[in-house]
Amino acid sequence: MADVLKTLAVLGARGDMTGRLLLPALVRLAGAGGLPADTALLAVDRDEGDDDAYRAHARAKLDAHLPDRDQKAADTLLEHLSYRQADVTSADDLRAALEDAGTPMAVYLALPNVLFRPTLEALAGAGLPPHTTLVIEKPFGADLADARELNALIARSFDERDVFRIDHFLAKQTVLDVLGLRFANRIFEPVWNSDHISRVDITWYESLGLEGRANYYDRAGALRDMIQNHLLQMLALVAMEPPRSITERDVRDRKVEVLRAVAPPAADEMARATRRGRYTAGTCGGKELPAYADSEGVEPSRGTETFAEVTFRVWNWRWSGTPFRLRTGKAMGTERREIAVHFKSVPHEPFDDRDNPDVLRFTLSPDTIALELNLNGEGDPFDLERVALDAAFPTQELPPYSLLLQEIMEGDSTLSIRGDEAEELWRVVEPVLQAWERDEVPLKEYPAGSAGPSGAKKPPKRIEDARDPRQGTAEGDDAQAG
Ligand code: BG6
Repeated sequence: MADVLKTLAVLGARGDMTGRLLLPALVRLAGAGGLPADTALLAVDRDEGDDDAYRAHARAKLDAHLPDRDQKAADTLLEHLSYRQADVTSADDLRAALEDAGTPMAVYLALPNVLFRPTLEALAGAGLPPHTTLVIEKPFGADLADARELNALIARSFDERDVFRIDHFLAKQTVLDVLGLRFANRIFEPVWNSDHISRVDITWYESLGLEGRANYYDRAGALRDMIQNHLLQMLALVAMEPPRSITERDVRDRKVEVLRAVAPPAADEMARATRRGRYTAGTCGGKELPAYADSEGVEPSRGTETFAEVTFRVWNWRWSGTPFRLRTGKAMGTERREIAVHFKSVPHEPFDDRDNPDVLRFTLSPDTIALELNLNGEGDPFDLERVALDAAFPTQELPPYSLLLQEIMEGDSTLSIRGDEAEELWRVVEPVLQAWERDEVPLKEYPAGSAGPSGAKKPPKRIEDARDPRQGTAEGDDAQAG
């Protein structure tokens, strides 16, 4: 493991991301004893200012986003802070801003993603001390070609082991629990395959609308914002093979391996296996929401989706035959954040009226895991009842961002995205993005506060019956294994 970092240089220190997420997460981490007291925070932004002015700015952000903070931890962090004015796209400015920083150092790109490329170029020109850590936020590029270019640029200045591509979902309690449940218990692994699992639904429905993020979201849309990263990460953890150890190389190798087996819907399946939608005006969570298309900063002709659903296949021995349906929506009437693993029916049903297969449900915020089973009910001894064996977990002690910062400080990149993985994630969604851009799938409307655009409730039958295209079609292909 690398030496603990001495300096955290935040580029974009006055930006929304730093104020809303990073500063509160650092203070929470410091309060939990996870940040060495002498860690220096080097705040870099283009505005004029000095250390004291930035301290005041940071305090105001903490007042807004972490009012009940551990004040001692906040004071210690702010004491060790310095501010440098710099244009992050200028090599000279960055060289001057970073030259006195204590090493080892991490450079955190808390910047809009249009600035990633010029900033990485400037960092290459500035010349960084060896083994400087890079932390880079999502979205990592806008498509596969972009992600490849970013990776090439990163490789000019950084060793891949020192690069942390952030996906904060990997530090969410219930997402981490997928690893524990699968690999620290014996009972699930023998049934964790397409012989026993009929489908996996990964759902992220939020009641929030655009929340003033048009600048970013209107160019991204739901597929790029959630499915391309967070939901595919969850799929990878559900579907990966057991790693030899829970360490950076083993876990990430297994994730990349399974992502390479993930296939987007074939060109002639796009209209059946994907759905997209955009909310219209409505009431959501007690709030009136204007139509997405009428929201400030939105360019309606872009046709940005606020609801996305894609059913993927995983073409390997374990999963051939099990669809993975990933879906996400904003302004949804009912919030739902979960991974639902649906088991097949029993092979013979001795009870009457029974076709209610078991479900293992990982729910996020609040964090619960429930195994939904059929058991003999209280009344008639042969009437079945649906019972959930469930465990609820207290709120995560350290929020995901604090946990990730702790991993960054310690140099452990197990929970961050490797370069080849970032490219696989784009490869998987790119054909869907292109089909949607060509309007092959209609952009349906749904009122804010509703259940989303109308459409299939379960993955369409033809999709469940699909076969790996490399092995012939479903019809007349008797040789198909799995
Ligand atoms: C972000 C997305 O990455 O994740 C948001 O950009 C989404 O659109 C958010 O709302 C959900 O994560 P969390 O942890 O804030 O619930």
